[in-house]
Amino acid sequence: MSNSLERRLEGELEQFIRDGVYKRLNFLDSPQAPRVTMEGRGEVIILSSNNYLGLSNEPEVVAAGEAALARYGAGTASVRFICGTFTIHRTLEAACARLVGTPASLSFVSCWNANEAVPGTLLGEQDIVISDQLNHASIIDGVRLAKAITKCQTAVYRHADLKDLEEKLVAARDRRVRLVITDGVFSMEGAIAPLPDLMEVCRKHDAVLMVDDSHATGVLGARGRGTAEHFDMVGEIDLITSTLGKALGGAAGGFAAGSAAVCDYLTQRARPQLFSNALPPTVAASSLASIEYLEAHPERVTLLRENARYFRERLLELGFKPLPGETPIIPVILGETAAAIRMSDLLLGEGVFVTGFGFPVVPQGQARVRCQISAAHTREDLDEALTAFGRVGKKLGLI
Ligand SMILES: Cc1ncc(COP(=O)(O)O)c(C=O)c1O
Repeated sequence: MSNSLERRLEGELEQFIRDGVYKRLNFLDSPQAPRVTMEGRGEVIILSSNNYLGLSNEPEVVAAGEAALARYGAGTASVRFICGTFTIHRTLEAACARLVGTPASLSFVSCWNANEAVPGTLLGEQDIVISDQLNHASIIDGVRLAKAITKCQTAVYRHADLKDLEEKLVAARDRRVRLVITDGVFSMEGAIAPLPDLMEVCRKHDAVLMVDDSHATGVLGARGRGTAEHFDMVGEIDLITSTLGKALGGAAGGFAAGSAAVCDYLTQRARPQLFSNALPPTVAASSLASIEYLEAHPERVTLLRENARYFRERLLELGFKPLPGETPIIPVILGETAAAIRMSDLLLGEGVFVTGFGFPVVPQGQARVRCQISAAHTREDLDEALTAFGRVGKKLGLI
């Protein structure tokens, strides 16, 4: 095929390569774990996975997926309301709701799907959705979709800026519903949303607060129940979306959690529910086993926190200046995109896999390598990675 589309795409792809922003996929031949086998590289320490609790290869989690495959087969073979859903979905949804502290939840094949479904399904033309400037791409697209589908109003407030949010809420006082959306933990910074203040502003202006807790579920709070637990506010958030593809087994899937009415309404009307298959039962079962594991082993969350603190402190001792914070997301700002990509390449040469992020994923001039720590990393893994950081940092004149 050589038509104008094909020619344009080939031209742009070549430009990506020239600009140094072309993404090359690294192929792994082993499960996600602190050390993986990377094609062409051998054993590599991963510091760029969302496998925060190390559950993606936990024997109980894998066994639950295998058992569900044997019991339910590969999948639903259609949409849930048309040809039936599996009992494992109901059990999973009860567990998700229990974990995040809401009366109900509804699973989706991804959190991306959940974030696209929620605003466009729940809002109407008389409503407004107001979103944090640094929210995840799935929320941004969910807001765009809501505007296209429902003709609702949309607005963006400056990142975590309560004054700006309040001004937007005041301007929207004639709207029937005001929906405010924030990430619980912002994935490029590792920053935690100021939930108590956000809640206060939302309550004052009779707004509904939705939190995407994808990087907080299994991570924040003494028992890994997320941003709400971190602030001792479990049960207070109106709507939570989160992923099953990070701390909770890492396979795929997401959920929306809230009141029984919200979840029932999404079941009735959310287009990804009505026109697309449910989560495969293997994934539902491994996710459920991950939640049960987390509930039985809160010490994993403590270990995650200790590992993250250890790595952050040693990085500082080496002379790096990671963004301050208390989550296992530890970014080191380098400036230009090419610098972040070079550091990431050099680290991989040393056997440490850390991804570099540049514009447009992060603002211009704030390219970074982002380290993500897992409870499964041993001190040996972390020390070996830190030695590589030290060598690369010296070579690049960073420390
Ligand atoms: C904040 C946030 N929301 C949603 C998603 C999407 O999650 P999923 O992989 O389940 O679609 C991600 C994944 O990167 C995320 O970081």
